[in-house]
Amino acid sequence: MSHNSFNRAEIISGIIKLSALSVGTFFLAKLLFSQLDPTKTQKKRAKKRAQEQLSKIGIDGVPDLSDYELVIASHLVNPSDIPVSWTSIAGLKDTIQELRETVILPVHRKDLFAESQLTQAPKGVLLHGPPGCGKTMIAKATAREANMRFINLDVSILTDKWYGESQKLASAVFSLAVKLQPCIIFIDEIDSFLRSRNSQDHEATAMMKAQFMSLWDGLITDPNCTVIIMGATNRPADLDKAILRRMPAQFYINLPDEHQRKEILDLILRNEPVDDDINTTELAKNTSGFSGSDLREMCRNASVYRIRDYIRSSSRHISDDSDNEEYSDTLRPISKRDLETALHKMKISKVHSGSGLDSVI
Ligand SMILES: Nc1ncnc2c1ncn2[C@@H]1O[C@H](COP(=O)(O)OP(=O)(O)OP(=O)(O)O)[C@@H](O)[C@H]1O
Ligand SMILES: [Mg+2]
Repeated sequence: MSHNSFNRAEIISGIIKLSALSVGTFFLAKLLFSQLDPTKTQKKRAKKRAQEQLSKIGIDGVPDLSDYELVIASHLVNPSDIPVSWTSIAGLKDTIQELRETVILPVHRKDLFAESQLTQAPKGVLLHGPPGCGKTMIAKATAREANMRFINLDVSILTDKWYGESQKLASAVFSLAVKLQPCIIFIDEIDSFLRSRNSQDHEATAMMKAQFMSLWDGLITDPNCTVIIMGATNRPADLDKAILRRMPAQFYINLPDEHQRKEILDLILRNEPVDDDINTTELAKNTSGFSGSDLREMCRNASVYRIRDYIRSSSRHISDDSDNEEYSDTLRPISKRDLETALHKMKISKVHSGSGLDSVI
């Protein structure tokens, strides 16, 4: 009898010890795993940033979002924080008008478009054309004007992740956008992410592309969903044909013609101190083959010349005891010569870098 009870006590204490040990092991393993999660601090940071972004755009208290959705939410942009508006873009009136009518109006005036399946906002919009002509600017201005939530998707967060994470993040992009709709998902340089699939694709990359497309199809088939994917690229030919099909609204933003160049130059120089004899019509004539970004760079260089002259003349004035008649203690405006020098320099650099057309010289 005593032998029996001794045995039972021993068994019970054994069981207690064993359960204590397994509970201990469980928590130790949990602690170890949480330390091993390489994205833990990143997730924490993303969550904090997401909370800030969400409350900025008027969504207080994080709605029911998963960790992955929070990572994506940290890339949300408040439309009113976007520094680019239609007025910052010159020479693209027709494109802007068309974008307004086909993309923004159906979102703002759902009542007008509700009856017909045909007139709904396109679920995919592609801006394409040569570099530096305003594609990124247009996408940003659209988000601002449409006052839609804007996820500026940095695709490296999808592709750099550990195996398996990227697929969860890709699906979080879509589920978050649906929760926050109306929403624009903007993918700049979309060709780098969704280029034509080939046999050399890594298995994980191929899987993610396929998954991305099927998630996208989910958006397309849901008539009540106001999520638009907007992409920009200067290599539309590299894009997967299946992606092109999902982006029915396509806008070609070409190099500006002479008239457009004049409008861009006028806009860039509008608030700058310039000499009265500057003639933007003539400058526009002489800048064939220049993109909007080239024109901006040219004007920036011209503006730097006057600062360089000012610094040179003031240091000469200090080292020179005699009165220097040329010296002035204020910055002179941008002169015609500054612009001509900058133009000449730009043409030479375009020819040497191979980006210039023969027509530029
Ligand atoms: N139509 C325009 N009006 C005013 N500024 C312009 C215009 N086009 C280009 N720019 C200037 O050029 C810069 C680059 O434009 P943007 O980044 O939109 O070009 P992009 O078409 O996206 O080029 P990339 O294909 O290289 O990404 C702008 O920040 C702006 O200063
Ligand atoms: Mg761009």
